[in-house]
Formats: sequence, C-alpha cells, structure tokens
Amino acid sequence: MTTRIIGTGCYAPEHIVTNEDLTQFLDTSDEWIRERTGIHRRHIDTGEGTTAMAVKAAQRAIENANISPQSIDLIIVATSTADEIFPNTAAMVQKSIGNNHCTCYDLNAACSGFIYGLNTAHAFIKSGIVETALIVGSETMSKTVNWEDRSTCILFGDGAGAAVVTKDETGIESIVMGSDGSNGEIISCDGRIMENRWGKRPVKNSHMIMDGQEVFKFAVRKVPEAIKELLEQANIDADQIDHYLLHQANERILSSVAKRLHVSMERFPVNLSEYGNTSAASIPILLDEMNRKNILRRGEKMVLAGFGAGLTWGATLLTW
Ligand code: COA
Repeated sequence: MTTRIIGTGCYAPEHIVTNEDLTQFLDTSDEWIRERTGIHRRHIDTGEGTTAMAVKAAQRAIENANISPQSIDLIIVATSTADEIFPNTAAMVQKSIGNNHCTCYDLNAACSGFIYGLNTAHAFIKSGIVETALIVGSETMSKTVNWEDRSTCILFGDGAGAAVVTKDETGIESIVMGSDGSNGEIISCDGRIMENRWGKRPVKNSHMIMDGQEVFKFAVRKVPEAIKELLEQANIDADQIDHYLLHQANERILSSVAKRLHVSMERFPVNLSEYGNTSAASIPILLDEMNRKNILRRGEKMVLAGFGAGLTWGATLLTW
C-alpha cells in the first residue's frame, strides 16, 4: 500500500510584475534577468495573503480529486510566509474548505516545503494513521525580499499549489529528504523582532539575504545526488523517468541538473518564465498545470525534487 496523488490545484495572484516593470526602480534589465534566470514575469500579491491563496489552491485540488472535504484526515501547509503566528495556516484552510476534525499543521522547509509535506503525508498514510491528506504550498515571497536588492528580488513571486493524496496500490515508490543547518546562512530571513521589555537583540531588518552563487552551487550538487539516491532506492534508471518536476528557482539550475543526470532537458518542464521562484508553491503549481493540460498519463514515472533554505532538500519518486 502506498500514497497516490488524486487531485491538484493552484492559484496565483492576478497582479503581474514584468522584468520591464522592475527596471522602473532597479538597476537591471529584462535581458539580464531572462538570460541569468529564465524569468520573464511574476505574480505578486496585492493584499490577499498566504492563507487566501492556499484556500483557493486547496479548493481546486479537492474539486479535481472529486472528494468530500470531510474525508480529509490531515492538512499540511508548507510555507515560510504565513500571514499569522497562530492559528496555523492549515487550520484556517481547514475552516474554509469545510472540515472540522482533521489534523492541521504548517511546515517550514522553505523551497523544499512541498516535498517535505508530501513525504510526511506519505509516512502517515503508509503507517496506516491516515487515509487521505491535503498538502498545500503557499507563499507570499514578495514580503520577504528587499525590493531594492536586485540580486534577490528579481527571482521571486507569489502563489499557491496543492495536492490531495490517498491510500492506493500505486503511487509513491521512494522518498529522500535531508538538511544541512551548518550552511544555513547562505539564504536566510530574520523572523519577528523580540518585543518584550527584557529583549537584548538589536533591531535588524527582516528581509531575505542570499549568497546567490553559493545557493546555486549547493543546488546543482545536492539535487542530482538526492535524485540518484531516490532512483537507487527504487532500482530505476534516470532515463526511465518520464518527467522531472524540480523546484523552479533558476532555469540554469534545471539544465545543470539535467546534464548531471544525463537526461534530456525535454523531461524537465519549466514554468519559471511566468511565476519566478514561488518557493514551496513552485512544484505543486507546475504539477497542476501539467495535470490540467493532460500531459500526465497514468503509469508514467515522475520525480519531484526541491531544495532551499535550511539548507534543505527532498525528492519523491512516484507512478502517476
Ligand atoms: N540585474 C543586473 N545585474 C545584476 C543583477 C540584476 N538583477 N543582479 C546581480 N547583478 C550583477 C552583479 O552585481 C554582478 O556585477 P559585477 O560583475 O559588476 O559585480 C554581476 O551581475 C554578476 O553577478 P553574479 O552574482 O555573479 O550573477 P550570477 O550569474 O551568479 O546570477 C543569481 C545571480 C542570483 C541569478 C544566481 O546566482 C542564482 O540564481 N543563484 C541561485 C539563487 C536561488 O535560486 N535562490 C533560491 C533557492 S531556493
């Protein structure tokens, strides 16, 4: 018995910011951003927030799965940009979709969050604790980046993606997850400033800081390693995989990973040009787009793989 994805959904805010729009206030160019990243535009939240986007993606996934919201036993929302400290985002999604009994929690593994959520739900299902779970990746990255820092802000966008999974005969075949906190400073974002009367921490700005080149090196080394481990576990060759759905951070990272695995870039779908890096939302948005375009065929093999702040990484091999 394993875990199968039976429904997907996604949502992105209507407001679009093009590379050209960024040149109005940043020393950058459309050409530089396209060439170095593959990004043309991104959807930016103008006030809905992470929870509202999560709800829309979740509702679409539930509709696509054709299940009753009350049959969901577990909701995990992967986010590093929750609107509130508490209640957790998952509990607010639960309320909006019409479920009043299941287990709800948020999970922060930055851009690896959806994979961490999917693999965690799989562990719950495989152990018999739950039968059906909803995993959502929802992010308002636009509130974490410094819009005056051209080396980071150009990369990110906002959005949400979701998947409903349930117990089945076919589905997830192997999983890999890991973290290396010792190198976490290469991409980080401070949390809330300590605000009690005894606090000694100096007030710092809370924007994301990132050493882009180091993150790039980490991704092109770690992602192929994780995928190789995943394939070995399932005794499958890289060329037997029909689709590699990687976290959408930079098109050059995707092509480096494809090269290292000796797999054609044609098997690596890309939607970066439209959304930029939406962190935990990027993989489920891509998955939903492919599902709705009827690109995915029952029985096809897929690898999903994410990487991000932490540093964290995770991968899932499944039969669709
Ligand atoms: N527009 C124009 N020039 C820019 C720029 C921008 N938006 N951002 C940086 N530059 C400049 C730099 O200042 C530098 O100028 P210099 O040579 O005069 O010093 C030059 O471009 C090259 O900068 P560099 O940092 O070497 O570029 P790069 O090829 O490494 O690309 C990133 C930068 C951020 C696009 C790339 O490192 C990257 O994508 N890294 C991974 C980040 C990531 O994916 N993070 C999320 C992980 S989940």
